Amino acid sequence: MAKLYPLLFFSSAISVIFSATTADIKGNAWLSPFANQVVQNVTGLVTAKGTTGFWIAGEKSKDVRVSNGLMVYSSAKAVLGAVNVGDYISLSGTVTEYRQSAYPDYLHLTELEYPTNIVVLSSNNTVTPVVLGKDRSPPTQQFSALDKGPDGFLSVPNNSSRINTVNAALQPDKYGLDFWQSLEGQLVTIPKPTAVAFTNSRGQFWAVGDWRKTGVNSRGGITLNFGPDGIPDGNPEAIFIGSPLDKTKNPQTAVGVGLTDITGVVTYQYGYYYVLPLTAPQIISTPSANIPATTLTSSTRDLCTVTFGDYNVENMAPTGAHLPAVAAHIANYLKTPDIMFIQEIQDNSGEKDDGVVDANVTLTNLVNSIASLSNVTYKYASINPIDGQDGGVQGGNIRVAYLYRPEKLELVGGSPAGGSLDKTVVEGSLFNPKLNFNPGRIDPTNAAWNSSRKPLVAHWAVGPLKLPLFTVNVHLASKGGSTSTNGDARPPVNSPIQARTNQVSTIATFMKSLLLKNPLASIVVAGDFNEFVQTRSVYKPFTCALLSDIDDAAGIPALERYSYVFDQNSEQLDHAFISPALRLRKVEFEHIHVNSWAPNLNSQVSDHDPSVGRIRVC
Ligand SMILES: *[C@@H]1O[C@H](CO)[C@@H](O)[C@H](O)[C@H]1NC(C)=O
Ligand SMILES: *[C@@H]1O[C@H](CO)[C@@H](O)[C@H](O)[C@H]1NC(C)=O
Ligand SMILES: *[C@@H]1O[C@H](CO)[C@@H](O)[C@H](O)[C@H]1NC(C)=O
Ligand SMILES: *[C@@H]1O[C@H](CO)[C@@H](O)[C@H](O)[C@H]1NC(C)=O
Ligand SMILES: *[C@@H]1O[C@H](CO)[C@@H](O)[C@H](O)[C@H]1NC(C)=O
Ligand SMILES: *[C@@H]1O[C@H](CO)[C@@H](O)[C@H](O)[C@H]1NC(C)=O
Ligand SMILES: *[C@@H]1O[C@H](CO)[C@@H](O)[C@H](O)[C@H]1NC(C)=O
Repeated sequence: MAKLYPLLFFSSAISVIFSATTADIKGNAWLSPFANQVVQNVTGLVTAKGTTGFWIAGEKSKDVRVSNGLMVYSSAKAVLGAVNVGDYISLSGTVTEYRQSAYPDYLHLTELEYPTNIVVLSSNNTVTPVVLGKDRSPPTQQFSALDKGPDGFLSVPNNSSRINTVNAALQPDKYGLDFWQSLEGQLVTIPKPTAVAFTNSRGQFWAVGDWRKTGVNSRGGITLNFGPDGIPDGNPEAIFIGSPLDKTKNPQTAVGVGLTDITGVVTYQYGYYYVLPLTAPQIISTPSANIPATTLTSSTRDLCTVTFGDYNVENMAPTGAHLPAVAAHIANYLKTPDIMFIQEIQDNSGEKDDGVVDANVTLTNLVNSIASLSNVTYKYASINPIDGQDGGVQGGNIRVAYLYRPEKLELVGGSPAGGSLDKTVVEGSLFNPKLNFNPGRIDPTNAAWNSSRKPLVAHWAVGPLKLPLFTVNVHLASKGGSTSTNGDARPPVNSPIQARTNQVSTIATFMKSLLLKNPLASIVVAGDFNEFVQTRSVYKPFTCALLSDIDDAAGIPALERYSYVFDQNSEQLDHAFISPALRLRKVEFEHIHVNSWAPNLNSQVSDHDPSVGRIRVC
């Protein structure tokens, strides 16, 4: 217990000076009961030193919610020079709950600032880290008790409560953030770490250790998935590994890379819990460099089968090394499917913001590049956006586009291509639906599509029998502006989820009108949805009478469904949905992990993985 000492008077304000242990300072919740107080005679063992301070461990609390670790913040040479790891010291200072003022959605870090009266009481004491997986193990599913709702941390309404405002007692056995908070400031060892993401441009990466994990996929990454109770599992058992305290550099990791044990201190920075290693770990194993190409190849002899690929090609400009690299993926890994759903084609002037909206040069260059690597010369179909109106990188005018093999399928004639703002509607007779524009944009002036790519619908005639197929190529509003899964807002802000929900709804409305004309229509809706299917609120309009997830129809194992690596998770932003008639026939699908399995961040061609599907239109 903290002892209260006689009062000191400064002008008219009363300042109480306490003596406190590190456990008293930390308490069993999020904010220190001593915040903004001066404390004296704090004792602890110096466990680690960095350039902006050092860490001490006081007497261990019997309460698992209470950390005995504390960061002493100072970059003064006199302070850092006064202590060594292994010293048992006493000091005074001011308890601060630190948060960068520009980031009000971050959590706070408890620090002892303005350290004074540092006295070394003994030296060369043994420093013993908490061994994770042995002494303490992280929970594996939920981040916070405040993530209320059927979709867990992906629930709406988002940002309906704040960790710091509620400041509830920690539940470290149940919730990931509570677990890491209960170790804040302590020295921990991560045995047998596996990287679950790339080392980022700041030299940091995510890892899991030798403890119970959920969602582990065949590559060694961890997949965002549902827990056994049906609530999304965001994998809070992984931890961000920061820059080493001794200024060595972390190696360039990738998903599934094995490393030597990491010992470091638990802290909170840049919106996440981190372990800052004492020194950089070494790579001891790397997963196979062989990335399998698709087995779902196209056949012009099979009149009924259509292969399709889906690829967000990440800001493809007409020039540069990026375009031929994407072309090589389409030729060598996707095996030139009959039809490609492509997202993020930039206009002919790339990111130059000059009013150009045509993308015929970009698309022609891509087609030619693929042709130079295969015997396939695609045709393309796309509709220009209005300059600057569809979001994405400034000046890029990114849009969705189709590439298709004219020897296999053609756009059904008789309707003109739509303009940027033309609304496509379903016409024609019962069992013979037609589009007024082909290709056309679905409801482009609907407010749901403000500042976003409009979906491109097309009506195809497949093979000599001219079998009908409808496709919708989508790229929903991106997640920019969201808050961290480790942040103050609970559930985290999932920006702009309302826009994505409305966008899915307009696509569903269109699908209904098409299926009303022909309940047996063959339809594929594919692209970058910028949302996980675990965010069920967004996909509610896609009832199974309308569209089904092709991953389900093709029986892809839940943990192998991913197209993106973000934070600690392998996760699926890119999806294909099929109409009931297609689901009744044979459906095949493959995720091609050319980018999630890249050997390092810089060798990724796009941030998304492509996929290939094979459907039967008769
Ligand atoms: C800290 O220790 C010093 C020396 O023993 C003592 O004089 C002082 O009262 C202590 N301060 C508090 C707040 O306990
Ligand atoms: C601590 O250990 C180091 C190296 O073993 C030694 O040089 C130093 O004298 C020791 N210090 C104390 C106070 O025992
Ligand atoms: C998500 O949070 C943002 C920021 O607080 C808010 O504007 C938005 O309405 C929320 N959306 C939903 C669907 O909860
Ligand atoms: C979340 O809501 C709070 C108000 O409760 C607001 O101050 C904050 O800006 C919101 N966060 C985001 C990212 O919109
Ligand atoms: C692109 O379109 C412009 C305008 O129609 C045309 O002059 C140019 O030849 C086209 N370029 C390619 C590569 O198709
Ligand atoms: C292109 O076609 C020729 C002749 O049919 C064949 O020999 C060659 O292997 C093909 N190349 C590719 C990349 O498919
Ligand atoms: C459309 O989006 C832009 C950019 O996000 C925003 O500034 C504008 O207010 C939005 N307009 C409408 C009508 O929602």
